[in-house]
Amino acid sequence: MKRISEAEMGGKQAETSNPRDWGSSIWCLLVLVIGALVVTAAALTILKYLHFSKNNEAHPINKKYADALELALQFFDVQKSGKLVDNRIPWRGDSGLQDGSEENLDLSKGMYDAGDAIKFGFPMAFTATVLSWSILEYGDQMNAVKQLGYAYNSLRWITDYLINSHPSENVLYFQVGDPGLDHKCWERPETMTERRPVTQVNTSFPGTEVAAETAAALASASLVFKENDPDYSSSLLTHARQLFTFADTYRASYSISIPQVQGFYNSTGYGDELLWAASWLYHATRDDSYLRYVTELNGQRFANMEITTWFSWDDKLAGTQVLLSRIIFFGAKDMPTVENLDLQMYRKTAELVMCGLLPDSPTATSRRTDGGLIWITEWNPLQHAVASAFLAVLYSDYMLTSQTETLYCSGNSYKPDDLRNFAISQADYVLGENAMKMSYLVGYGSRYPLYVHHRGSSIPVNADTSCQDGFKWLYSDDPNPNIAVGALVGGPSLNDSYSDTRDNVKQSEPSTYNSALLVGLLSGLISTSSVVKSYT
Ligand SMILES: *[C@@H]1O[C@H](CO)[C@@H](O)[C@H](O)[C@H]1NC(C)=O
Ligand SMILES: *[C@@H]1O[C@H](CO)[C@@H](O)[C@H](O)[C@H]1NC(C)=O
Ligand SMILES: *[C@@H]1O[C@H](CO)[C@@H](O)[C@H](O)[C@H]1NC(C)=O
Repeated sequence: MKRISEAEMGGKQAETSNPRDWGSSIWCLLVLVIGALVVTAAALTILKYLHFSKNNEAHPINKKYADALELALQFFDVQKSGKLVDNRIPWRGDSGLQDGSEENLDLSKGMYDAGDAIKFGFPMAFTATVLSWSILEYGDQMNAVKQLGYAYNSLRWITDYLINSHPSENVLYFQVGDPGLDHKCWERPETMTERRPVTQVNTSFPGTEVAAETAAALASASLVFKENDPDYSSSLLTHARQLFTFADTYRASYSISIPQVQGFYNSTGYGDELLWAASWLYHATRDDSYLRYVTELNGQRFANMEITTWFSWDDKLAGTQVLLSRIIFFGAKDMPTVENLDLQMYRKTAELVMCGLLPDSPTATSRRTDGGLIWITEWNPLQHAVASAFLAVLYSDYMLTSQTETLYCSGNSYKPDDLRNFAISQADYVLGENAMKMSYLVGYGSRYPLYVHHRGSSIPVNADTSCQDGFKWLYSDDPNPNIAVGALVGGPSLNDSYSDTRDNVKQSEPSTYNSALLVGLLSGLISTSSVVKSYT
């Protein structure tokens, strides 16, 4: 991919400036010094014109975020279902090998959602979309710290599954496992024996949000794999287009069609997913019909312009606003006026979101802890802090790369660095700068949660317990025997406190989408960065 080769070049350039090669005579040295001055002057002149546009210099790496990224990516290996390949987690093994077989499908891959062993398609697809976005913007940063391969691998482990879960145009299997059966057990995925039913949406029982989120995941992933694996990429795109048409033609929430999903990942609506999916399809195809979809056709209806929201597995509006702002930042010159005006509204709303995040903006949200963490819900509070910080670092980099110097919030002006500093504040809180003086990223630092709510992590590999008697491991006083490396737990209370107990599900359960959002945030912070102007 273009961005990888840029990073590789940066690395090579750094190597060739090895001082040992610098000749022995003083003349040689003088010539080199003068040469260097000329080159520097020339470079500065070029930079004056290019300003913040991307160059091939190797940026200094921030070790803290690089180390954290290396851990965060491992959580996807912790969560993998299926026949494992190059497994990095010693306490994980093959599992879920028969998943999907009752419908003659291979749904063995994919990832377990959180501390249990259900594959919930709605959040899993969101995990993939966020991973794709992270790779597209910050793949060169990941590559610079040798993590890009792991990110590709994790993404593909999910997209392989999603492709198999879409066996015909208007059928999508969105769940493997029954939460009722699964939650009656406390067992390792490697030893589970209960039935693993699969559940679908179809034309009679549609599920717009889950089909659209899956379309977003596959469309964004098609961009990720475009250069390295064009056949796979075009297969992803075909599924994405079909799923979007299915989602849009048969409009209904899966929570309404199939009420039993309301207990887990109940959806509050599908308009946001339709816009999000169409935005990704537009980026993946440059087909104007997807642009018209999010602007003149549905902008008014679904976009909630000028109202700020929190980016999450359930609500993609803020992410859509940032993603569509990208077009204004980098490529709206030839855009027809109508689309342009609507896109400006998305960008305006994205600015309002950013203004809400900046802690000293006149419109700063009050929804944070005394320690400065964005805090929206008791359940899994870190998801919103990390998601907000990810969007902020993206927006900051869009501003930098497009030479947009100022963000105005009710008359006050802010710089890209202000957004970046907000993002850093959230990342640093997660990594240990907080009242508890602990890291919420498992494996990072000297103090992190030891009683993570996670079946596989809490049960010794050689335990002879099964479904029911396994609960003794949930209630055991001992710390987890297996480290759930890279898990980002739910996080602290509003008063910045955290209770490290295994049955404190709201706080101590990790999830794959938490880790995906963290991967995006950390990748953006590894070095002073700018994004590429175009994905294509
Ligand atoms: C359509 O989906 C519903 C809900 O998952 C399921 O009960 C039904 O059997 C499906 N229809 C067909 C024809 O498979
Ligand atoms: C699930 O969401 C729907 C709206 O999509 C709502 O009507 C319903 O009350 C919610 N159910 C639960 C259990 O929260
Ligand atoms: C902080 O909040 C939690 C949850 O609401 C509560 O259990 C705990 O006692 C509070 N701690 C302090 C120090 O106020």
